[in-house]
Amino acid sequence: MWRGAGVRFIQGKIKYSKCKKYILPFRMQADKIIIIDFGSQYTKLIARKVRECKVYSEVIPCTADISQLKNDKSLKGVILSGGPASVYMQKSPGLSKQILELNVPVLGICYGLQLLSHHFKGEVISGRIREYGKTKIHNAGSSVLFNKINKELTVWMSHTDYIKKLPKEFKVTSRSQNGLISSFQNEENKIYGVQFHPEVNHTEHGNTILKNFLYKICSIKKKWEIGSFIDEKIKEIKDLVGNEKALCALSGGVDSTVAAFLIHKAIGKNLVCVHIDNGLMRKNESADIVKYFSKKLNLKFIDGTELFLSRLKGVASPERKRKIIGKSFIDLFQEYAKSVGDIKYLIQGTLYPDVIESSSFKGPSVTIKTHHNVGGLPKSLRMKLIEPFRELFKDEVREIGKILKVPDIALERHPFPGPGLGVRIIGDVNKEKLEILREADYIYINTLKEHNLYNKIWQAFAVLLPVSTVGVMGDVRTYEKVIALRAVESVDGMTANWFFMPSDVLEEISTKITNSVKGVNRVVYDISNKPPSTIEWE
Ligand code: XMP
Repeated sequence: MWRGAGVRFIQGKIKYSKCKKYILPFRMQADKIIIIDFGSQYTKLIARKVRECKVYSEVIPCTADISQLKNDKSLKGVILSGGPASVYMQKSPGLSKQILELNVPVLGICYGLQLLSHHFKGEVISGRIREYGKTKIHNAGSSVLFNKINKELTVWMSHTDYIKKLPKEFKVTSRSQNGLISSFQNEENKIYGVQFHPEVNHTEHGNTILKNFLYKICSIKKKWEIGSFIDEKIKEIKDLVGNEKALCALSGGVDSTVAAFLIHKAIGKNLVCVHIDNGLMRKNESADIVKYFSKKLNLKFIDGTELFLSRLKGVASPERKRKIIGKSFIDLFQEYAKSVGDIKYLIQGTLYPDVIESSSFKGPSVTIKTHHNVGGLPKSLRMKLIEPFRELFKDEVREIGKILKVPDIALERHPFPGPGLGVRIIGDVNKEKLEILREADYIYINTLKEHNLYNKIWQAFAVLLPVSTVGVMGDVRTYEKVIALRAVESVDGMTANWFFMPSDVLEEISTKITNSVKGVNRVVYDISNKPPSTIEWE
């Protein structure tokens, strides 16, 4: 079940409910765009790009009942996403008439354009020419969508079906180099469609096309401002929580730390924070969290090292390790919550991509890894959840963090998985291996910082491999462990490219590690992208 955004999503149906006050009063102050998700891999990116234009947007599945959006005065436009289906296939998702009855401008992207065409009795067929990747189009200069954009531009295409016959009352506004319709419009009814993906960076002027739709066609006036979000949120949380207590598990990462600072601003000492050291943190990490945050927050530190490591003893399966770590965390957290007594609210740093992820329109998918922290904490805690950032993206949370003066160690920290070093030691985990990995990782990360590379990389870390290799040190044969270095560029961790690390930096890191970490005689650099690899090795 997905809840939020003033809507409740239950088994594919959306109903506007009398949602709790804390969910979203501030939204009323910003104009809004709805993105209808037809299953495209780019839906989240559309939401992201619209937000970059300072426009508030929400993604809802194409199965949702949207009739109640009718009375939403803040709604200024609808974007229909792409999707994997063909409009002429049986059971392909259709276009609800209700969308067109909302009387706001509509922009269909890829499958969205084909749906519009199909709905208005144009003809969509499966083509012999498949347009995929960078494609040149020529725009006739007749559409506001292409305002201030060159006549010739390169766009990103990903389609096999195309529009053979235009629906009545629509005009072609651009064609591809293959002569296919790449955009159309019905200006009078403010219905627009593009066959290409303006949200993808490879599309030249993609942002301008989106801005033209948002500002010139939808006439967005009230922009989405982070400053007013903070004020509204603090007031809202104050009103909601009153004199009750709230609890927050502080991992030291951006989301939970900024959430804690925000809630602390609203309710002060009534926010109880707890940091659990699971024994799988990086060098000095838990100590730093206590050092930096205990002066500013009401913070309790729990050392769970012994419990976690004893439960992990001899366990090599990544999924079993994740489950054990997740369960141990919950056990300790629950025990602490009980000891504090009457706590009504639980704070979680859930972000909008997680919300979209769990509500998006898709078929059954295979579990690649169980990310235990996404599942949340057990219901038996009987606390009400407050997720102050469930409509935000990570960089917006960072922006809030800066405004609230959250220390850089949290704001600049690369993403770090809940199971920590537990999934970066391949195979079973013990104290000796943890010591080796901690030291190697510390050297690696510090060297990146010294070369000003840390902030250019989305995530970097070391991995301890379960193999020993032969080496030679001071004329003596060694037989020691291998450290793998990973560094990736990414937007949200869903896909990633390995980072082109300068070779002199790699050499420096390798030399430092083999010289000073006892038990390591070899360092390798991981040059795999995601997909096919994942970011973490386990
Ligand atoms: P993968 O390895 O799936 O990772 O490509 C994508 C992002 O998720 C992080 N990750 C986790 N985060 N619990 C977490 O909180 C986990 O079990 C977990 N596994 C992976 C990973 O570090 C990367 O940022």
